[in-house]
Amino acid sequence: MQRQKELHIFSPSQRNLWRSNAPSIWTPASDHPRENQAQSILRTLHDQPRWLEPYHLYDERGSQLFEQICQLPEYYLTRTENSILFETAGRIIAAAPVECIVELGAGTSKKTLHLLSEQVRQRKRGAFAPIDVSLSGLAASRDIVREEFPLLNFHGLCSRYEEGIAGIEKKLPTLFVFLGSTVGNFNRSEFVRFFRHLAESMGPKDYLLLGVDRVKDAEVLEKAYDDAQGVTAVFILNVFRNINRLMKSNFDLRKMRYHSWYNPQWQQIEMYAISTATQEILFPSHAASFVWEKDDRILVEISRKFEPVRLQKQLQFFGLKPVGHFTDPKDWFSILLFRKFKISSAEKGETKRHVKYE
Ligand code: AVJ
Repeated sequence: MQRQKELHIFSPSQRNLWRSNAPSIWTPASDHPRENQAQSILRTLHDQPRWLEPYHLYDERGSQLFEQICQLPEYYLTRTENSILFETAGRIIAAAPVECIVELGAGTSKKTLHLLSEQVRQRKRGAFAPIDVSLSGLAASRDIVREEFPLLNFHGLCSRYEEGIAGIEKKLPTLFVFLGSTVGNFNRSEFVRFFRHLAESMGPKDYLLLGVDRVKDAEVLEKAYDDAQGVTAVFILNVFRNINRLMKSNFDLRKMRYHSWYNPQWQQIEMYAISTATQEILFPSHAASFVWEKDDRILVEISRKFEPVRLQKQLQFFGLKPVGHFTDPKDWFSILLFRKFKISSAEKGETKRHVKYE
């Protein structure tokens, strides 16, 4: 009986593509056709400017450092988003009558507990399926959810977003949750690819809840990404430790420094590692190498900032209709609720009507 329940969040064609690797946690059964981590690293490090995909930041140590960042006085994002969710979870869940909550890049799902609590209060049941590359984050989330919400079915998907999204049963009315302004990590082309794929995977009864950090005073933004204790610097440079471990490469962390700034034209924080001496980087297992010149920079991460109304207009072109906007008293962070368009003529009429925001 348990077993049937365990599987029903997967669409039939996907069921045999996933295997359980810990209780209630699933992972793609075979090494998927996507490129692996080493390929991603080599491909972007040979680009100009050199850059890295942000998921390499989140090894065990990186995930711990990010948890520390979330507690920093300068890093207002987590606190602010959490307080908005605390205030508005009841209204969000009431507005989205779903049976399943899928969280992308969930980490330990701490902020999402407000939503789960309302789902249980209002509907007495539901499934929760967080998707994350970190197994330990999923396991922590599973333990909390089982303890606090025994009425919910927990299924953690240990994968990247696209694979996880592809796995979910489309018929189940679902609220996709993407918090923390993680969407700000995507560059322009990744952003388009992500929303195209997500919106295509959504049915007419599905919703998207998106948490985004807003454009604001550059000084506030820059402090949030260059804290007095230097935790952010350690977090960003840790990616090279992780790469050294993965690829037996020889990045010298003593010969690099962290630099970040807010680029107002692109509305994004840019986080760089700058080499303080010329170093030849070798990747012995891949017969690859490059010379990292003194003062040359590697763009390790970007964090885009958003204007909510502009974003709502943009996402309409992916078939996502804005149905709610929740923010904090300072207007520093926004949580946006979208619904997938139904492409019937009646609904088309509805989208032309003026949408009233909260
Ligand atoms: C996890 C992508 C939302 O961009 O604010 C924090 C990552 N990097 N400090 C962000 C991050 C440096 C964070 N996101």
